[in-house]
Amino acid sequence: CGIVGIIGHEFKVTDLIDGLKKLEYRGYDSAGLAAVNGQELFLSKSVGRVDTLRSVVEENKVIKGGIAHTRWATHGAPSDRNAHPHTDCTGKIAVVHNGIIENYQELKTELIQKGHKFKSETDTEVITHLIEENYKGDLYKAVLDTLKHLKGAFAIAVIHSDHPNVMVGARKGSPLVVGCNNELCVLASDVTPIIKYTRDVVFLEDGDVVFIEGNKMKITDFSGNTVIRKHTNITWDESAAEKGGFKHFMLKEIDEIPESIESALVGRFDDDYNPVMHELDEFNIEKIKRILLVACGTSYHAGLVFKYFAEKYLNVDVLIDVASEFRYRPIRIDDETLTIAISQSGETADTLESIRAVKKAGGKVVAISNVVGSTITRESDVTLYMNAGPEIGVAASKTYVNQLILLYTLALYMIKKRNLWTEEHKKIAKQIVSSANLIKKIISNKEIERVSDHYKNYQHFMYIGRGVNTATALEGALKLKEISYINAVGYPAGELKHGPIALLDPTFPVFAIAPKDSLYEKMRSNIEETRARNARILTIATEGDTEIQKISHDVLYVPEVHEDLYPLVIAPVIQLFAYYIADKRGYDPDKPRNLAKSVTVE
Ligand code: G6P
Repeated sequence: CGIVGIIGHEFKVTDLIDGLKKLEYRGYDSAGLAAVNGQELFLSKSVGRVDTLRSVVEENKVIKGGIAHTRWATHGAPSDRNAHPHTDCTGKIAVVHNGIIENYQELKTELIQKGHKFKSETDTEVITHLIEENYKGDLYKAVLDTLKHLKGAFAIAVIHSDHPNVMVGARKGSPLVVGCNNELCVLASDVTPIIKYTRDVVFLEDGDVVFIEGNKMKITDFSGNTVIRKHTNITWDESAAEKGGFKHFMLKEIDEIPESIESALVGRFDDDYNPVMHELDEFNIEKIKRILLVACGTSYHAGLVFKYFAEKYLNVDVLIDVASEFRYRPIRIDDETLTIAISQSGETADTLESIRAVKKAGGKVVAISNVVGSTITRESDVTLYMNAGPEIGVAASKTYVNQLILLYTLALYMIKKRNLWTEEHKKIAKQIVSSANLIKKIISNKEIERVSDHYKNYQHFMYIGRGVNTATALEGALKLKEISYINAVGYPAGELKHGPIALLDPTFPVFAIAPKDSLYEKMRSNIEETRARNARILTIATEGDTEIQKISHDVLYVPEVHEDLYPLVIAPVIQLFAYYIADKRGYDPDKPRNLAKSVTVE
């Protein structure tokens, strides 16, 4: 979601909408604003894009302060009612929020018991009512008292009609930037709405609260102690600012992976690392013996990772197919079968038709999607949401990683439910919970760009991997062909000898996925085989494996993790590699030819 707030001077309500328009790429299922022009607070909301909101507000209306929001639904379908801002019972306090409040159900129950009436299904509305509960004439204090109760990730902006000159913002896990000029202050999810007013901004950090009065701001921690944050002078032009200073959305979205993982994980593990999936509590998970997995493209590769992982630890068969094949097959369903459909867009036609076929046969479907309210989520029995935020680049990046996070968690949840949980699973869970930090380090590896330079002029590429990293090899090849138009193929490494090896020569490089796992020695042999055909070899290996350098021309390292989790940590590496090659070849990685983000044709 995108949030923007302006305070401190008289301005037109449309200025707020102009600011929101710049944030539309962060979410666009509904939009809304709350403004004060004296003692009154007024609200405007609409389902759809920011321009729809623009068409319902009075163009020349002058206001003194306001907050606005463009939504990417997490809790509650896109609707006028669920659009932000949310107000309290007095109608004086308005809140916009980006993120997820993990403990909103408990808070909501308490607040209802105290007599609060809720108007929406959102998690956000609890913040509004909590502030009302804590408000004793000082908005800043009321927000501080409220923050103590919130678990999860959030960036919020709050106004109160009795204080038209005041706005309070807070950040924990979701971005928030603030800038002031001589007349006013602007608070927003990124710098794009701010640079029209000032290029001198402060990027708030987790745990910061900003108290804005007129054109002055004060930053404190959640306990009210003043903190000093450095000011940054923004030199980006508008289009670069929209991409957070990155050259392309794809690069920005890869950079967002750690943040996106954190959002996917909100509420997914308890303090003892036990997986939590309340959505599935009503399912008889203990009884499931067969899982049908259906998806397309990158989502299919995420499904393949699940297949390897689930079959290793659970007494289940996972049958996986691409949706365009699955839907035309006979579908056998019984009480012991569960179908999982993966689709980041929630609209892919073949996946949707497969779901319909399963439902018609009497089956239950768990969907994994990034888009609340999408057709697939509406037609499935339950949906596990990826919470990655919108992804603009056509080739999936952060959504693939979030699919993996959810699928690993789902498998762990099933393991736990079936009493198969061991210390090893706890170790995997711990590593998943801390994976965002690990990935932060991986995406900052400058070697990926440097190495990509050696490969940018080849016409062919072969990705090989084994076990769970067969999926990584397939996904690596897909990513490269999608955006760089290199003829890249992916194979389980053991299949080389049955045909593909005939292709190899010095013009045909090999990308070997060879982390230190139980199939490592086998992979080494396969690398040797490709070396014997004089292919140039780029290997992804585990940090510390210097031996592999002897048989590879280039090596990219990832940190050691549990062997089943390598697809997760290697994903950003294959994405960055494909990105740099596409960019160096002069193509726009965000808009690959002939491809669409959401494929609603069969
Ligand atoms: C398109 C996209 C791919 C994506 C596939 C499945 O082909 O270009 O990146 O993986 O659709 O999309 P879905 O939204 O169902 O995950």
